[in-house]
Amino acid sequence: MKRLNLLFAIIFLFSGISMRADEGMWLPIFVERLNYVDMQKMGLHLTAEEIYSINHSSMKDAIVGLSNGPTPGGFFCTAEVVSDQGLLFTNHHCGYDVIQKHSSIEHDYLADGFWAMSKEEELPNEGLSATFFVRMENVTDSIIPFLSDTMSASDRSAKVKEISSRLKKNADPDKKYHINVTSFFNGNEYYMFVYEVYTDVRLVGAPPSSIGKFGGDTDNWMWPRHTGDFSIFRVYTAPDGSPAEYAKENVPLKPKYHLPVSLNGVEKGDFAMIWGYPGSTDRYLSSYGVDFQINYFDPNIVRLLGEQLSIWKEDMSANREVGIKYASKYAGNANGWKFYIGELKGLKKLNVKGQKEAIESDFIDWLNQDQARKDKYSEVLPGIKTGYENISKSFLPFITSALAASSPEILGFAQSFGVISGLLESKDETGAIDESVAELREAAREHFKDYNAPTDQKVFARMMEIYANDVPADLQPKGFKDLVAKYKGDFKAMAADVFARSFLSTEAKVNAFLDKPSYKVISKDPAINLGNELMGSMMTLSGEYRKANQDLAKYERLFMAGLREMMPDKAFYPDANSTMRLTYGSVQDYKGADAVYYDYKTHLSGVMDKEDPTNEEFIVPAKLKELYAKKDFGRYGCGDDLVVGFLTTNDITGGNSGSPVINGNGELIGLAFDGNWEAMSGNIAYEPNLQRTICVDIRYVLFVIDKYAGAQNLIDELTIAPIKFTVQRDEFEAKLVK
Ligand code: ARG
Repeated sequence: MKRLNLLFAIIFLFSGISMRADEGMWLPIFVERLNYVDMQKMGLHLTAEEIYSINHSSMKDAIVGLSNGPTPGGFFCTAEVVSDQGLLFTNHHCGYDVIQKHSSIEHDYLADGFWAMSKEEELPNEGLSATFFVRMENVTDSIIPFLSDTMSASDRSAKVKEISSRLKKNADPDKKYHINVTSFFNGNEYYMFVYEVYTDVRLVGAPPSSIGKFGGDTDNWMWPRHTGDFSIFRVYTAPDGSPAEYAKENVPLKPKYHLPVSLNGVEKGDFAMIWGYPGSTDRYLSSYGVDFQINYFDPNIVRLLGEQLSIWKEDMSANREVGIKYASKYAGNANGWKFYIGELKGLKKLNVKGQKEAIESDFIDWLNQDQARKDKYSEVLPGIKTGYENISKSFLPFITSALAASSPEILGFAQSFGVISGLLESKDETGAIDESVAELREAAREHFKDYNAPTDQKVFARMMEIYANDVPADLQPKGFKDLVAKYKGDFKAMAADVFARSFLSTEAKVNAFLDKPSYKVISKDPAINLGNELMGSMMTLSGEYRKANQDLAKYERLFMAGLREMMPDKAFYPDANSTMRLTYGSVQDYKGADAVYYDYKTHLSGVMDKEDPTNEEFIVPAKLKELYAKKDFGRYGCGDDLVVGFLTTNDITGGNSGSPVINGNGELIGLAFDGNWEAMSGNIAYEPNLQRTICVDIRYVLFVIDKYAGAQNLIDELTIAPIKFTVQRDEFEAKLVK
């Protein structure tokens, strides 16, 4: 193996081709043209057809986008098919919401884990869907010629919508598929995606949080990592194999393709590719955009989310029931909160603004060389600058009112009562009131299942105080100001009174209202009225914010077009937008900071080192300690230890969580689950020397399923690739050295 690499290195040296893969989230249809040769040189042993083919089953058929709801797009995570019976692997943090929903004090699957020992025990999940990619097509030429730069933003999007719906109809006359038409390169290109969506997706297995979320929020976004971040699902279909809602008689999906699993492990420099659904990046952002992120967006999101999180945390730690109820909401917000702290730090430290300014200065030089270019693009950078000035002006009042109107959960819930209020006011007699009552009973059941009013009351008091202080008084609605005056600025008293008088504070009161719905009651409810007022003011403020963004969109589109024109030989990859991408790179260590070197893999011994029974985030389950003490690693170990996590240079972002990490033979070697602290500005600029993808080693996943949980039934379903070494790799290497 090493020798081969040396040979290739020599070939490169003389071919003048630089091996600069790592960065880039590539569209699978272009991989053969843009990346395949590069990938082969880096260690890929598959044909281009085995990777992406629409005529034969190929790797793309094993990749799944997870979403809430039956329409594809905005995938929150990625999963992959690992058996011929529709078994899926994804991350624990991707299954977390589902695991939390199935949990209670009696069945605490968050704390204890969950393992279906037979298919009958698998748990259905309303709303969760698994999307498979069927094919994609470039439809730019059907759209762009009908647009112009002088069109208003709304005319432009109306035109795109009109053409897209025609394209969708023609592509799928039998309405068999789900089709999206999506913009790329800031509106310079359009692609059509054909998907198949399965809505019966059941929970099969999850380790306890002490494995699946080991290290908690402390270790989140950081390396070295020791988290067994995986969970297991299964896709079911109607008996004829077609997508179907949950039904008892449904059968496991027979997939077109599933990934074999490798137990051979990874070595520094090994080829690694990752498939998935990255959500959003901003790689072509201007320096003005970076400035806005640093001075407005990131610090305010961090500040406002932090307020809510610290109140939640206190109550969650004091009471396990509240802890279970708020676990998923908390984890989601805490993840975003820490992300923006890291992004802000990274943007500053890595001088991302300076990097962007350098590109802009090249752009200006390029413009100045040619009059036609000047005519086309000279307004672009000044337009972007003005755009961000306008966005900055409207941002703070907008974001504060948006969070004030939505982060107290009682106000968010109040929004569900808009329809019934209108029906009651107009004394509707069509039966719509009864329908609405039934829907609201269901909504109330869901809302109160994970709700604790005393906690929310504290959040409410704090958010109202922030809103009163931060939003200019002339932008605050009158009803809000009256309320503040009534309590002489005592926000706790205000909260206590609103919660006492509103029927939205307990499920019993909501149901009592729904038993006898009355306009008089709803029109006097303080939470509903306040919610409406704050929402109304937020809508007004969002108008300005949206307008500023639309003006900006035109210049950002032209900037993107100009950059591509300026560098005609560069292979540009489009920003992430929740469409299927492939990224390739290698297993690598890194230097994190001055005198800080990070190795590329972590071990079970490191889990034991981090153990702290007094800290919920670092508890190690007894069974895991026992297995470790006995070195009972089965075929998953490596010498006298077990690899838990490893790093690669792959270019991923949110939405990629759960993505398969695949070796040069097309075998699954891990699941991607995080990015690293030193390169948190990675969504805006990829940092080749610092940016790493954090993966859980597939051998740790299988060890937990097999040895820890005893779920041999699941192991038996997998296709395990032939083991290459009879001696453990490290021992093998050690012998070679001697
Ligand atoms: N940072 C990970 C991601 O964005 C989520 C990890 C979840 N763990 C946690 N402690 N919240 O995908």
